[in-house]
Parts: sequence; structure tokens; C-alpha cells
Amino acid sequence: MMKKLLEIKDIYAEAEGNEILKGLSLTVNKGEVHVIMGPNGAGKSTLVNVVMGHPKYKVTGGDIYFEGEKITDLKTDERARKGLFLSFQSPEEVPGITVEGLLRSARSAATGKPLKLMAFRKELKEKLELLQFDESYATRYLNVGFSGGEKKKNEIIQMMMLNPKLAILDETDSGLDVDAVKIVSSGVNKFKNPENAVLIITHNTKILEDLKPDFVHIVLDGKIVKTGDASLVEEVNKYGFAEFKDIAINS
Ligand SMILES: Nc1ncnc2c1ncn2[C@@H]1O[C@H](COP(=O)(O)OP(=O)(O)O)[C@@H](O)[C@H]1O
Ligand SMILES: [Mg+2]
Repeated sequence: MMKKLLEIKDIYAEAEGNEILKGLSLTVNKGEVHVIMGPNGAGKSTLVNVVMGHPKYKVTGGDIYFEGEKITDLKTDERARKGLFLSFQSPEEVPGITVEGLLRSARSAATGKPLKLMAFRKELKEKLELLQFDESYATRYLNVGFSGGEKKKNEIIQMMMLNPKLAILDETDSGLDVDAVKIVSSGVNKFKNPENAVLIITHNTKILEDLKPDFVHIVLDGKIVKTGDASLVEEVNKYGFAEFKDIAINS
């Protein structure tokens, strides 16, 4: 039986008076991997921020449901506690806060409970091993001198340690090197199970070779204009997003 995890129903959203999402609907069931593609400025990041309840965006129509419960009006931390996760790539270097430190506060915030440090450390060590990340990584200061690949490790480790029901990854930087691509795809493959789901925004078709998404959605001008299986990626590679514009105009 299909188990609905996230249901976005005809959502409209704006930021600073700009209408960005214009009637977007999307359903994600447990056990599924969804990929969202679309040109710059289509509204992909807005969509995932609206799902997380980012205060910068105002929902002007439609609703969002998570496990059957309406979450449209919940605050971000309440959504996080329900099992929603959006990887945040803090671009700034934060000397004084380690990777582990950030994970600890994120975990406490997500569970709303004090952290059991020994158990947490043990779990972190296991996850680092599983992902074949060096243990020393956890004690490094956040983003200080981090390469692109190390920033990716940070995102994947966050996802693993918070173990959300729905993990959303917004791959804003398209210039991932081969190693970073592998970090993301192998991380997602190790994370996914029949009880959770992954929603990933990417331009990177290399990631998709390892990831094998169940559904690919094309977003144009604040709406999903086409949904297909992994073969849709080939279409995008060959023809770009231009051919989908006609669909958008006629819908
Ligand atoms: N906070 C904001 N205030 C005003 N406009 C915004 C804001 N965030 C995004 N936009 C605009 O909304 C459109 C979609 O942006 P975004 O969701 O970031 O697109 P994508 O992630 O698909 O590249 C863009 O035109 C962008 O300028
Ligand atoms: Mg974006």
C-alpha cells in the first residue's frame, strides 16, 4: 500500500510581494526518491523552503500535509520535529563551532530533548564509518577551509544523524566534483529505506546515475509542468528545458 508522506496541494507562495509558486502540487510516498529539476529561478529552492516553513516566504494559497496532517501553518522547528529535514549549507566559516557541535544542537532542536552524549558520539562514529568519512572530520571547525566535498559530507552527515522521515537536499551549487557527487549519491542510497523518502533538487545528471530516482519532476515558473521516471533526465540532457515551456503555456 502507498503510504503518503508529503502532500503539497495547489500551493501558491510569494516573497516580498513576488509571486513565485503558482499552483504547485506534489505527492511523495514513503520509500520513494524524487528529483526536481528546472532552470534557475524556476522556484525550486522556494518550494523546499516553503515545505520547511521558512518565514521569508508567504503561502497565499493551497496546503501542505505531512503524514496526513496539515502543516501549512507550523513553524520550521515544529516541522523538523515531525521528521522534515532540509540540508542547510551554511556558507560561512564558523570558527569555534565544530561539525559535531552543530550536529548536537541540530539533534536537540529536532528531538526537543536533551542529548545523551555518549550514545550520540557512538552513533556519529558509526555513521562516519558507514560513509567512509574520516573520524577527525567531526572535530573540525564548521566550513573553515572546507572543500566542496567536505561541505557535502556535512550535509550528508546531518541527514544521517537527524534521520528524518523526509530528507530534502537542495543542491544549489552545480559545480560538484566527482568525489562530491559520490558523497551525495552514496549517502542517499545508504539513508533511504521503505519508511522514509528523499526529495533532491539537482542539475547534476551524474548523481542521478547512482541514485535511480522513482520520479523526476520539471519545475518551470512556479509549477510542475512534467513528471516522469528517470528517463526524463535524458530528455532534459538532450533538449534542455525549452521544450517544457510549451507545456507550461498550455496548462
Ligand atoms: N526572498 C526572496 N525575495 C524576493 N524574491 C525571491 C526570494 N527568493 C526567491 N525569489 C525569486 O523567486 C524566483 C525563484 O527563486 P528560487 O526559488 O531561488 O529559484 P531556483 O531555486 O529554482 O533557482 C527568482 O526569481 C528569485 O529571484
Ligand atoms: Mg535554488
